[in-house]
Amino acid sequence: METKIDEIAPDVFRLSTYVAEVAAPAGFTFNQFLVRAESPFLFHTGMRGLFPLVSAAVASLVPLEDLRWISFGHVEADECGAMNAFLGAAPRSEVVHGGLACMVSLDDLADRKPSVIGDEPLDLGGKRMRFLPTPHVPHNWESGLWFEEETRTLFAGDLFTSVGDNGAITDDDLVERAMAAEEIFHATGLGPNVERTMRELAALQPTTIAVMHGASYTGDGGAQLDALADRYAALLEDAQIAATA
Ligand SMILES: [Fe+2]
Ligand SMILES: [Fe+2]
Repeated sequence: METKIDEIAPDVFRLSTYVAEVAAPAGFTFNQFLVRAESPFLFHTGMRGLFPLVSAAVASLVPLEDLRWISFGHVEADECGAMNAFLGAAPRSEVVHGGLACMVSLDDLADRKPSVIGDEPLDLGGKRMRFLPTPHVPHNWESGLWFEEETRTLFAGDLFTSVGDNGAITDDDLVERAMAAEEIFHATGLGPNVERTMRELAALQPTTIAVMHGASYTGDGGAQLDALADRYAALLEDAQIAATA
């Protein structure tokens, strides 16, 4: 295995490890994102087993001693499995997340006390990260995503997940691949929050979407999110019809 590094927006790097034998016959990518700024920010740590590869990739972009912030969407191995390994290797780093995630899990799980993000964006010095609570979307109560205001990059976590290795960044439609993966995994908790949250994310009008599993997107990110919202609204409706039939 190797971890590939691509700059998907100015000073926003995608660290991608393709694992052939997991999740689906086509395999799966596990992507982390490093925002390089005065206070570097890592979104997703990867699983514990990926720590040697991912930490080396981070260290090739910024010294680990300088890594300041660690965050992720929700509590799962691919999101935060190596959180404590990074806290150990990067002495200035802190986990930052929403108050709910800290209260429910991270105050206990993280080896150093996590920081609760407030209403104001996190100023990285050159980049500004806005936290977006997304409870239950696509899964987990404590879920949240981030939006970087200078580059208009949405760190979309598991949204737009696709199988296989589809390259680092594309301007092709992501929605069909995402719905194909949804059909395999049924990873999304189909509820009323899904469409509403996707519409709210669309309103941010991101021009880059950083995707945890699959290629990142460049272009009209709002249109991609609205199209995804349409498809999930239809899935929810089908599920409700099936439940009452
Ligand atoms: Fe997840
Ligand atoms: Fe994931």
